[in-house]
Amino acid sequence: INLQTTTQVTEVVVNNPVSISRDVTILFGSQTGNCQRLAGSLSRRLEEQGFKVNLSSMNNFKPNNLKQVQNLLILVSTHGEGDAPDNALPFYEFLHSKRAPQLKDLRYSVLALGDSSYEFFCKTGKDFDIRLEELGGNRIFHRVDCDVDYDESAAEWFDNVSSKLIEPSGSSVVAELVTGFSNGTSTEQSAYSRTSPFKAEVLENINLNARGSERETRHLELSLEGSQLQYEPGDCVGIYPENNSNLVDTLIETMGWKSDELVQINKKGEERPLREALLNQFEITVLTKPLIEKAADLTSNKGLSDLLVEGHEQELRTYLNEKDLLDLVQDFSPWNASTQEFVSILRKMPPRLYSIASSSKANPDEVHLTIRTVRYEVNGRERYGVCSTQCAERLESGDALPIYIHQNPNFKLPANSETPIIMIGPGTGVAPFRAFIEERAETNASGKNWLFYGDQHFLTDFLYQLDFQRWVKEGVLTRMDVAFSRDTDQKVYVQHRMLEKGRELYQWLEDGASVYICGDEKHMAHDVHNALIKIIEEVGGKSNEQALAYLADLQQQNRYQRDVY
Ligand code: 2AM
Repeated sequence: INLQTTTQVTEVVVNNPVSISRDVTILFGSQTGNCQRLAGSLSRRLEEQGFKVNLSSMNNFKPNNLKQVQNLLILVSTHGEGDAPDNALPFYEFLHSKRAPQLKDLRYSVLALGDSSYEFFCKTGKDFDIRLEELGGNRIFHRVDCDVDYDESAAEWFDNVSSKLIEPSGSSVVAELVTGFSNGTSTEQSAYSRTSPFKAEVLENINLNARGSERETRHLELSLEGSQLQYEPGDCVGIYPENNSNLVDTLIETMGWKSDELVQINKKGEERPLREALLNQFEITVLTKPLIEKAADLTSNKGLSDLLVEGHEQELRTYLNEKDLLDLVQDFSPWNASTQEFVSILRKMPPRLYSIASSSKANPDEVHLTIRTVRYEVNGRERYGVCSTQCAERLESGDALPIYIHQNPNFKLPANSETPIIMIGPGTGVAPFRAFIEERAETNASGKNWLFYGDQHFLTDFLYQLDFQRWVKEGVLTRMDVAFSRDTDQKVYVQHRMLEKGRELYQWLEDGASVYICGDEKHMAHDVHNALIKIIEEVGGKSNEQALAYLADLQQQNRYQRDVY
């Protein structure tokens, strides 16, 4: 390409003698698809405004081309303890290495997605923002860090970035963008979305664990009838849960509030009675640092602002981990705030995402989920996952649950139905693999399927045992290896089974198999990743460096995909 000509063709002059390039590169790093979707809608918008957009996942962008980029917009999420998404890692590492070029002519801005209940909130976006500045780039608009309810902040960033790119217009397109997001996906014909959930009827709600298990895992079947909602294996369902009413009532009583007092629930000014708002609209079980900062202004109790003083980081961390809103209001009274003022500092109830456990081809108008109940005790008080305990304790057939479909482009069956797949999904990580296998059975896909599954006890914890055994018998599931960790003296995990079968597993990879991991990120996914490296080293006769390159190459070809949490 002759860059000189390209630049001339796409250059325009806006109100001043300085010419501005209409070429924009949008790079996204996305684990579950949010940034990817946002990048897509930003790209469409800028194209409508006459920009020539190069939209790419960070994984598919050649870092060496960075020097030629004039306008760069980065959308990237952070997950876990400050980790970059899988498809952002190579680019992230390149940019932070000595190989990164000087970028004096670059104009850029960063949109960071994250969750403020994690300590390293939006870390990946912050790192990119700082590093691009270090390399000489010029920030055209400040980085925006979005919390779990990202729509409004992202729309503001879109608005500002698009006007900065073509100074000096600056008209507001926020309202349009917000609606643009909700219908942002091209395949989705439904009127329902994250911002406008569908009330799905519960058809079935059963415990998959047998009596005597330490676990409780709910199999939910929901009706999508009339919603036009569509999904593919690998997608998730977002559920808007309801807080425990006992907790809400205790909170109201402690604060001396009135249940039926009207409070505003959003910036648009919509109102709900307080009790209803606390049940459905706001998060009251998780504390975040931004919340503590705002709450400190509403109490004359000095203790709260003390937590925020430099040097008290560890105390703050412990407080955030161990306490909830009820503790906060009890620990730091007296409060000098109206009900409305207090409610305004609360975070909007974030939806909970669950990997879909069914194929829509096999179950038209239905979606199935696998939800493990989260219950634990801190300081003598029982704590529970809001959504999972609602499903376990307060949800019956016939009830309605507000849901939407969250498409995950990064966890998909291979396009070619002949491609073999290896699935590693202990515990609830097995959910999407039930969907994968059901889909392949339903469509008579000829590709081989290998499942690694594990949980604590064979007798009580084998989720979907009958389904999987039927698929083995029918030959759909070519291989199934299980690891029940607490049936033997020594713990056996899925990665031990993988190592035992290393030779065959490596042969599958050489034959073009795709590998999928779903489930716990912190321990399992990490250990399974290392087991894969070990197998590639030992069976493939490769050095550590070569094995890492082998896996990176699989990832690049979308043959190594993870849905981890
Ligand atoms: P455990 O509870 O006996 O430790 C699903 O939760 C299964 O994953 C359980 O059998 C659990 O075993 C197991 N598990 C726990 N840590 C793991 C790890 N690091 N790698 C793989 N599996 C793990």
